[in-house]
Amino acid sequence: MRSAQPCLPLLRTALVAALLAAPAQALEEQPRSAAEAARIAAVLAPPTDFTAPEPFEALPGGSGTTRGAAARGRAAFAATLPGMGPEQELDFHLGSALFGKLWVTAPSATRASDGLGPLFNARSCLGCHPGNGRGQPRGAEDRGASGMVLRLSVAADPPAELAAIEGYLATLPHPELGEQLQDFAVAGQAPEGQLAIRYTEIVVPLSGGETASLRQPVYSVGPALPPGTLTSPRIAPPMIGLGLLEAIPAADILAAADPHDADGDGISGRAGTVWSRERGAPALGRFGWKAGHATLADQVASAFAIDIGISNPLYPGGWGDCTEAQTGCRTAPHGEDADLREGLELDSIGLALTTHFAAALAVPERRSIADRQVLRGKEMFHAAGCAACHTPKHVTTRLPDDPARSFQLIWPYTDLLLHDMGEGLADHRPEATASGTEWRTPPLWGIGLTQAVSGHTLYLHDGRARSLLEAVLWHGGEAQPARDRVADMPPEDRAALIRFLESL
Ligand code: HEC
Ligand code: HEC
Repeated sequence: MRSAQPCLPLLRTALVAALLAAPAQALEEQPRSAAEAARIAAVLAPPTDFTAPEPFEALPGGSGTTRGAAARGRAAFAATLPGMGPEQELDFHLGSALFGKLWVTAPSATRASDGLGPLFNARSCLGCHPGNGRGQPRGAEDRGASGMVLRLSVAADPPAELAAIEGYLATLPHPELGEQLQDFAVAGQAPEGQLAIRYTEIVVPLSGGETASLRQPVYSVGPALPPGTLTSPRIAPPMIGLGLLEAIPAADILAAADPHDADGDGISGRAGTVWSRERGAPALGRFGWKAGHATLADQVASAFAIDIGISNPLYPGGWGDCTEAQTGCRTAPHGEDADLREGLELDSIGLALTTHFAAALAVPERRSIADRQVLRGKEMFHAAGCAACHTPKHVTTRLPDDPARSFQLIWPYTDLLLHDMGEGLADHRPEATASGTEWRTPPLWGIGLTQAVSGHTLYLHDGRARSLLEAVLWHGGEAQPARDRVADMPPEDRAALIRFLESL
């Protein structure tokens, strides 16, 4: 006889008990009093003194900061938010196991781990987010998952509930290939295609006789995609501090938006609006390179379904990203089964545990914050205008049942808004309300640990930048003036700026 689902339901952890008692609650934001808002505004004011670190600057995750040796090496992105109770810790470890789990083809003896595909990009979450860090584009020689995906769509009118969202752009998943190019398939099914990348070098002059070389990617897919297919290559971003980002009050993010550049600073951040499957309503986009997902549950559920082919409560259908046009793939064996709890390849408890894990990864403490070069670099960061988008500080909402995330001063260096980054970075593929030239400001916390955690130093949405300096030099559009200030500043200030980024 088949055992129904994993042994997870037997473990009556806090999360499981709460889920069985009541359906999952989306994060509730508490209104702030005027006095509290004034106190917070004072704490969030930009620094004026660069001779010493600011109070609490060493702890980017607030009390959710990993300290000491655990915050440095390969496991720097693996610690939980300090301050979680023992039951939440247990949930974290169960979620972590699901994040690392290698899914297999259905039907298999272990029903708890089957349902892979039929089309997929990787067999586990960890395969693309190594060490909970960032993925990288696949090299010409590599086999296996790389941590890069190619999103697909076509220009078309969206369904009524999406069209009703103000500013929603006219796109739909590709009618034959779905939301993403899957480069793997289970036995008996054909992968949709393979992405190939060619780079050409562009030499860029800098002040002081220095130069940098940027590599411009050229993407192709074999077999060729149907004409009219819009594509967007993306690498997997790091997983730290996501629960803290989810706890930044939406009102604070919206207050910083300046869609028509009313303050005339050349920077016009826009809030992305997306359809949230978790809430069943439109919501502020926070996650993904174009803010394409509103909540962590939305993002995690879509990763299971689209990247691995695992159905779940928000994405039912064991066929994952196979479209109706792909009939062979639609009818291939999958892991859904009426014997399983909820009949899905991953039930609501599995989804909640993985989401809890994704929300509970702490942020490593800063290094060398009192170093003179780092402080000079911080001054350059502010002087060049980087902080206009990479907002250093936020205060999270009060969450009475969640002390690890509640009312923390955090330092993610993002406004979570969309910005026009110019032609050089454009994918020309709109997503929800984000245009083909817009990207969401990525958080910079932990970026100096990329080599230690993920074993490479590749940045930006498609990993084209081989160093932090290259990442900055690709900035265009609204960020062009900031980029030009970096190219023009004395070489020792540029080196200090990079040293500051490395200390994050
Ligand atoms: C095939 C590679 C791949 C796999 C497998 C994968 N991811 Fe991702 N992940 C990505 C990419 C690429 C993005 C950026 C997506 C975007 O821009 O929309 C991402 C984004 C995310 C984000 C948002 C992070 C942020 O900063 O906004 C979370 C959370 C996440 N993934 C969790 C997961 C979980 C959980 C799994 C397993 C169920 C998983 N991922 C599996 C590639 C992958
Ligand atoms: C107009 C808003 C804006 C300004 C100003 C800006 N950035 Fe960015 N930054 C972004 C966006 C959006 C991205 C993501 C672009 C992409 O991936 O295509 C980004 C990406 C980055 C990255 C790579 C992050 C990663 O995870 O790969 C670094 C590093 C960075 N910025 C540093 C800086 C520095 C230093 C400055 C000041 C010189 C600066 N930025 C100014 C919006 C901005």
